[in-house]
Amino acid sequence: MNNGDLYLRNNDVQRRDSKEVIDEFSHHFKWKYDGMDKMLDIGCGTGDVLYDFVLPEVPKNIQKIIGIDISQKILECARENFGSESMEFHQADISSISCCQNFGNEEFDNITSFYCLHWIQNQKQTFANIHKLLRPNGVAIINFLIETPLFDIYERLSKFKKYREYMKDVKQFISPYHHEEQPLEMVRKYCKNAGFIINHMEIREKIYFYRDEQQLKEALKSVNPFTKRMPQKLQQNFIDDYVKLVGEITENRFHNDEKIISRYRLLIAVLTLLVHPSASLYESDENIALLTSKNFDDLVVKSSNMWVVMFYSSRCRHSISIDQEFSRIARRLNYHFFVGAVDCLKEKEVCYRLYRISGYPSIGFLYDKLIIDFRGDINFVDVSNAAFSAFNEYVDYFS
Ligand SMILES: C[S@@+](CC[C@H](N)C(=O)[O-])C[C@H]1O[C@@H](n2cnc3c(N)ncnc32)[C@H](O)[C@@H]1O
Repeated sequence: MNNGDLYLRNNDVQRRDSKEVIDEFSHHFKWKYDGMDKMLDIGCGTGDVLYDFVLPEVPKNIQKIIGIDISQKILECARENFGSESMEFHQADISSISCCQNFGNEEFDNITSFYCLHWIQNQKQTFANIHKLLRPNGVAIINFLIETPLFDIYERLSKFKKYREYMKDVKQFISPYHHEEQPLEMVRKYCKNAGFIINHMEIREKIYFYRDEQQLKEALKSVNPFTKRMPQKLQQNFIDDYVKLVGEITENRFHNDEKIISRYRLLIAVLTLLVHPSASLYESDENIALLTSKNFDDLVVKSSNMWVVMFYSSRCRHSISIDQEFSRIARRLNYHFFVGAVDCLKEKEVCYRLYRISGYPSIGFLYDKLIIDFRGDINFVDVSNAAFSAFNEYVDYFS
């Protein structure tokens, strides 16, 4: 998407759907109202959705609103129309590993992203970046396309000999969920692995009626990445062939002056950042002993008990995301072993001097001074199998 003016004239669907999501979910935003609030919009495009619909929802004394987009061209249009002292537009690719470096260690109170993430294949990195950019307890409100006939038509057109060389990378422009049977589960997984709490997630069936063939053609011109690569004459063929395929593969028959129906599926999500608010992740878990440098010697080193110990960091999103699974493991294993947890962020003495833990989360099986550092998948079956076989080598446990 490079032509901002064309997009601005043809983004009724995107504006309608993004407004709907903001109206419905903006009450989730978490503001500090201290004049230091910051807002980020990812894939801001021409900036009009940010300006028209998000801006009215932010505190009057907000410090900064930043829109980012991968396209420098579209950002020029955004800056020209909506740039101001408190509303900045910057180039950034939300899917790149180095994306967050653009912002130093800056975190945003709330994040939005409308009609952008379906353009991105590396969803894992994208959700990890959004997580990094959000402040603890901040909120991200997102929508993006899961499925639309537009993607099927791109695929069909890419097989036409005349368009083939201009559409070699067609897959890059098709939502990574378009052909998936369980897209919701996939998005959930990406979000959970990134460390998000999902406040709301759904796939909404949507319908939009294009006024006529001309409006459909203009909308296609404004979003498709292919025509600008083609000679002028082929561009018109492409648009005409697209409309023909709309007639073939959708319910539209272009009778008389009928409106053109477009059915598609949109993912809507409200995410918050998972941060454990209490001093210790396992503070309220009666099956897990909280181990510190003060009690570790007495409880573990000098005892002749078998211990299954979680070495974690209360700031590590993977550690936080598996806390419930480890609680479940502890509930079952504490019939056989002592179960404890050490927050390596605070208990450096135990984690690094005593046991040289080099990464977390990791589970140590401790008996006397023995440590087996379990780094496999943390689930009940694998951890308990590993624990029984580790301890069985040292104690005749099963005899
Ligand atoms: C359809 S527009 C949506 C614009 C705006 N959010 C709206 O709702 O009207 C999608 C935007 O996402 C941007 N985009 C695509 N991939 C991106 C990426 N990896 N990082 C940042 N922006 C990206 C595109 O350049 C485009 O401007």
